Amino acid sequence: MEAQRTVAEIREKVRSLKKEGHTIGFVPTMGALHEGHFSLFRLAQQHADRVIVSIYVNPEQFAPDEDFEEYPRQLEEDVARCEKEGVAAVFAPTDEMMYPGEQFLRIEVDELNTYMDGGSRPGFFEGILLVVNKLFNIIRPDIAVFGQKDIQQFRILQEMVHEFNHDVELVMGPIKRANDGLALSSRNAYLSDEHRKLAPGLYRCLSYIERQISEGAQNIKLLLDHQKSELQAKGFKIDYLNLYSFDRMKPVEKVESGGKYILAGAVYLGETRLIDNVIVER
Ligand code: PAJ
Repeated sequence: MEAQRTVAEIREKVRSLKKEGHTIGFVPTMGALHEGHFSLFRLAQQHADRVIVSIYVNPEQFAPDEDFEEYPRQLEEDVARCEKEGVAAVFAPTDEMMYPGEQFLRIEVDELNTYMDGGSRPGFFEGILLVVNKLFNIIRPDIAVFGQKDIQQFRILQEMVHEFNHDVELVMGPIKRANDGLALSSRNAYLSDEHRKLAPGLYRCLSYIERQISEGAQNIKLLLDHQKSELQAKGFKIDYLNLYSFDRMKPVEKVESGGKYILAGAVYLGETRLIDNVIVER
């Protein structure tokens, strides 16, 4: 299988699939594919007849000091694996194809962008919305699958679909983890052996806090502060670690029964940034 490199080619492919009466599932990625991505392909296959994957390292969602240049790129291997997974087509556009001229328009994100990655990475979600909006308009999928791993991305995209009337249903796939609990990520390739051994500590910490909250812990701040110190002592640099409301993604200090929350953390091990989260319900 060859990746489709142009908008015209992938549109033609979509057109012929739809003409045959197939529904289209879509999984956007930045490549360096791993089991986390494959689990989303399989989920998409359960919701649609044919699955299209995009592989595009979107420059608009990287700040100048971030890892755009270093981000792992392995297109040939990725496309071969997509074929093996039964993906119907891969869209792997060039930068010139995605951003052919001056970009006069952007989508701004309001309140939902204040905390978590939105707070730490200015412009990140605007870059994501820009590219996903383009991709949705190019592919016009019936359903699209995104991972819980990037839960703020999922929530903001849900709002984009709702507020801008995109005719697509979003499905959230659970987080795929290594045997030791580390959430799979293309960026895990950056970790040294020593940091790779430490890395599952983030998920262990989130799981511990989640258990405490589910079992009725009241003093959330104390619980979080204590766990943050433990992580720091192990060598993690903490960007954020907090409990947020599910809907608005604002920090909360009190948990109400019947409430739904996101316990999310972003940490650095050396230069490598890891994120993870668990959904907390009580
Ligand atoms: P990327 O980081 O390649 O992730 C592609 C999709 O895979 C996202 O929906 C992400 O949440 C999901 N994913 C990553 N790790 C996962 C894991 N361990 N388990 C389950 N799903 C996982 O997210 C992006 O790319 C980009 O922002 C993109 C949406 C493609 C826009 O550029």
